[in-house]
Amino acid sequence: MARTNRATRLLHMAFYLVTIVLLITGWWLATGHDGRPSLLARAAGETDIALHRQVGWGLAALAAVAVTAGFRGARTFVRETLRADRGDGRWLWRWPKAVVTGRFPRHRGHFDPGQRLANLAFVATLGTLVGTGIALTSLHGGPTFVWLVRVHRWSTVVLTVLVIAHVLVASGILPGYRGAWRAMHWGGRVPAATADRLWPAEAHADDPRPEVEGEGEGSQPHDQGGDVLGVD
Ligand code: HEM
Repeated sequence: MARTNRATRLLHMAFYLVTIVLLITGWWLATGHDGRPSLLARAAGETDIALHRQVGWGLAALAAVAVTAGFRGARTFVRETLRADRGDGRWLWRWPKAVVTGRFPRHRGHFDPGQRLANLAFVATLGTLVGTGIALTSLHGGPTFVWLVRVHRWSTVVLTVLVIAHVLVASGILPGYRGAWRAMHWGGRVPAATADRLWPAEAHADDPRPEVEGEGEGSQPHDQGGDVLGVD
């Protein structure tokens, strides 16, 4: 089943490349190494702070491209992230066990309830980093600068935890998420069984029946996941 299109996968890759560079240079600066260039800074022939600022503007530009050129996908991303359906609480409750067994309760929409929470956390954290980062580029000391650096640093801690959790889930190391990484790499296609386990509403979007057999108690009628992340 096709899960994402090429533009979405390229945007995702661009986001993670700039985020990795910003995390590495950011942590390098936060741990007091700014006098000594990191390997990345040496390779780029820049100081860490200069590289961090340049790539920081790159992240801001990427976010701008995502909401303008990628307006349709961004709108669906927002709609699918903000949806809440009956049964989402049950899905979240059962999640820790399902991560191991792969027996996720059914959910509606393009994203599962856990992905929706992760999307909100990523957008809030990256938004805070871009906002405070841009403000920092125009300040040179003072109490506002100190306060902004503190927010920027704490957002980095949160982002680091989110990135580690995201990689753990998306890489398919956890049995329940085996095969999930294919949704964002190579052709962006996942096997039917993986789609059925992780994104049942979308896997059965063409199904003429309102319900899928064996959904069990609390089941939801399937609906169209929409074209978020580019599946038109
Ligand atoms: C993934 C996103 C980002 C991460 C993880 C990140 C992380 C960090 C960290 C950890 C520091 C060191 C703070 C300290 O000294 O304790 C820092 C500094 C800084 N960041 Fe970012 N940052 C990000 C995005 C941005 C963006 C988008 C900009 C602006 C375009 C930016 C501009 C700056 C500036 C100007 C400083 C230096 C403040 C100083 O002079 O000490 N950052 N960043």
